[in-house]
Amino acid sequence: MTRGVQIAASILNADLGALREAVQAAEEAGVDRIHLDIMDGHFVPNLTFGIATVEALRGVTSLPFDAHLMIANPALWAPRYAAAGCQTVAIHVEVPERHQGTLDAIRAAGAQAGLAADPGTPATAFAAHDAHLDFALVMTVKSGFGGQSYQPDAAARIKEIRVLLGAERLIHVDGGIRSSTAGDAVAQGGDVLVAGTALFGAAQMRAAVEGLRPKA
Ligand code: DX5
Ligand code: ZN
Repeated sequence: MTRGVQIAASILNADLGALREAVQAAEEAGVDRIHLDIMDGHFVPNLTFGIATVEALRGVTSLPFDAHLMIANPALWAPRYAAAGCQTVAIHVEVPERHQGTLDAIRAAGAQAGLAADPGTPATAFAAHDAHLDFALVMTVKSGFGGQSYQPDAAARIKEIRVLLGAERLIHVDGGIRSSTAGDAVAQGGDVLVAGTALFGAAQMRAAVEGLRPKA
């Protein structure tokens, strides 16, 4: 049985003054996961929300939470997002820290540990951490902002990452995912499609979610 493609809603581009309602709307629209873009204004030139918001949202839905940490000190924070109820926590491989301990700490805190890589980072960056990785988060835009255009050459790394990770571990694809680009992300081997603007900017979110799924 081939596993299906999952849709994760990034709430970064939702109404940040009504995140409870945004999560509820995404669940009602049929998404499979909630993607939480944590930005500290240092690793990326943008600042979003942190652990308190994630803890406040955890009780809103039983959907899996995927924390995407775009922060300069993931070693300090990553296990806390697992403890706050995130099923997965991804840290950026570009951060100049030793990631093995952080990845193991995420697992010890009960979540799946992942590495995220911006478009300029080669697929080989995942190889050094293979034994400590449960999934990969492949960025198809430069991390930091929603509403950017999908970069096909960034998605082309997925095939190489699939060889490194094997068939079992999931590959999340994040950035510029919309009905016109979802097919390429899936064709390259993506398992989880992360979408923000395409969902929260849609007149009908349920139709937008279904528009991302591969046609039967
Ligand atoms: C960017 C974030 C993405 C982004 C997705 O740094 O990691 O999750 O918000 O938003 P769209 O779908 O608008 O590219
Ligand atoms: Zn993200």
